[in-house]
Amino acid sequence: MSCEKLQSYDVIVGNEVFTLSGALCELIASRRALIVTTPTVDRLYGQRLRRCITDSGVDATVEVMSLTEHDKQMDTVLEICAAAHSRGLARHGLLVAFGGGVCCDLVTVASSLFRRGIPYSCVPTTLVGQVDAGIGLKGAINFANQKNYLGCFAPPKGVLVDPTLLISLPLLELQSGIAEILKMAIIRDETLFAKVADHGAQLIASRFNDAEGTGPEIIARSIELMLSELAPNCYEDRTLLRLVDFGHTFSPKLEELSGYHLRHGLAVALDISLSTAIAMELTLIPQATGELIFETIDSFGLPTYSPLFEPRDLQHAAEVTANHRAGALNLVVPTAIGSGTFISRLDELTPTLITAAIKRLSDRQEFSSVQGGVKEFAAQAPSFSGAR
Ligand SMILES: NC(=O)c1ccc[n+]([C@@H]2O[C@H](COP(=O)([O-])OP(=O)(O)OC[C@H]3O[C@@H](n4cnc5c(N)ncnc54)[C@H](O)[C@@H]3O)[C@@H](O)[C@H]2O)c1
Repeated sequence: MSCEKLQSYDVIVGNEVFTLSGALCELIASRRALIVTTPTVDRLYGQRLRRCITDSGVDATVEVMSLTEHDKQMDTVLEICAAAHSRGLARHGLLVAFGGGVCCDLVTVASSLFRRGIPYSCVPTTLVGQVDAGIGLKGAINFANQKNYLGCFAPPKGVLVDPTLLISLPLLELQSGIAEILKMAIIRDETLFAKVADHGAQLIASRFNDAEGTGPEIIARSIELMLSELAPNCYEDRTLLRLVDFGHTFSPKLEELSGYHLRHGLAVALDISLSTAIAMELTLIPQATGELIFETIDSFGLPTYSPLFEPRDLQHAAEVTANHRAGALNLVVPTAIGSGTFISRLDELTPTLITAAIKRLSDRQEFSSVQGGVKEFAAQAPSFSGAR
């Protein structure tokens, strides 16, 4: 799979990044590398990583840093740059992100600044990272209380996706990643949607590492779809009509309002639900198809409604997004499983429409709780209070 513009890069999906020692060490090759990771990932995989470095003899060191959503700021970018400086990385050096989406975003920004830009690679260790954050060429930090406000477009030198790294992933993080897969499936691929919906229990139980290989297959297909969406418009300078923005119009605001306690994928699931409810209100999608989307989201224990759904906040989110998209709202809404359309004008999203969509989701939520809750996974669903 590749994504081409000024620079093409490969996304390699395969098991055992370390035992391959190949893949990772081939990326590093004769460069001096700094591998940036987090305490959790270091605890889980640091020993294997260091053994791989020693065995292969590449010139790489590991830097362990706290990289949470709250650390997604300039100070942390500068810390990464300082570590790269101490390590003596030059223009041909390499920064490697070995962690979740936050790690990938921060390393991408640091690499674009350090010595005016040095190569970087991602080895994403979360499902969100493997199907989304670590795949594209955007890096960002939060700024002025806005999500991903500062950042860059910088293509990686390569991306290694090893689904076996997901075996240690907590349920909440799996759910978060599934939301990003559902995003692609709903808007682009009916077959992928059916596969994800049909294999839900197996995917969760096996952490995407089932014996049949369905998990890795779903990850690979999701990446393929993502790259096919990104490739013709890598720098978002050809069009601002992007299907991959499905689930990403209201979600940044929801994350901000939650004080960044709401996981990225859960915010995306809420945005997908709201966008679907809006499509249902406008009869852009058959009611039964909209319900199928809600039920599938439920089946993974993901939320379809949140107390953060305040019409004024959502209207504000739409305005901020439209400002970002050169004045056009370009809200992506599904029209069927596997396809979508855009609500382009901001004035089409009236307060009455937002209120009706919220009511649809809140009524549904009330009905589900009266019925005794949604399916199997809901019992393990995270309880998110929506507190500001
Ligand atoms: N640049 C992009 O295009 C893009 C796309 C999507 C999301 N993002 C960004 O990605 C971020 C979300 O990424 P995320 O969900 O990966 O969050 P994250 O990076 O915070 O990781 C989530 C949690 O998983 C833990 N973890 C990581 N790997 C693990 C493993 N293998 N086993 C066990 N635990 C592990 C981490 O310690 C962390 O607690 C958000 O900031 C979002 O804005 C960026």
